[in-house]
Amino acid sequence: MAFTVYKSQNLIYPLSMATNAKLDLSEIWLFSTFSKSELVQIRRSFTELKVDPERVLCEEGSVGQEFFIILEGTASVIRAGKKVNKLGAGQFFGELALLDHKPRSATVMAATEMTLLVLSQREFFGLIDERPALTKKLLQALAGRLRAADSRAFH
Ligand code: CMP
Repeated sequence: MAFTVYKSQNLIYPLSMATNAKLDLSEIWLFSTFSKSELVQIRRSFTELKVDPERVLCEEGSVGQEFFIILEGTASVIRAGKKVNKLGAGQFFGELALLDHKPRSATVMAATEMTLLVLSQREFFGLIDERPALTKKLLQALAGRLRAADSRAFH
């Protein structure tokens, strides 16, 4: 298995392959309000990863250093050993630990082969500093997840 180091973060990922998947960021809800030229700039911040099934992308309780967007495939969200959700193409994860500087709230594991976009913590903050519209989208998504968690807790 090949290893690669990306950007200046010394983060090492085993990569089966770095792809250049035909990717239209405008199809991803998080980026749907941006212009074509903004999307070209945004795209440059991300590193693309292809991972095998069962690869752990975030580990509950560990320090978070990356933010992920799913281009292809499915991931399971697992808390305390129990699968609580699944995430698919166009969805993202890993934002919580970056935003609140607390440990990862859940384990996220590839359920299938996956292609992902990854952003380091520094790049994540750089991107949301530059693009307030992105912060609004992240807040919307967080509100949705909070409502879903509430309704699971009270029904
Ligand atoms: P973070 O805590 O940084 O790392 C694990 C990630 O899993 C978390 O950010 C969220 O992005 C995601 N996550 C946690 N709980 C859920 C859930 N119930 N549904 C969907 N995604 C979740």
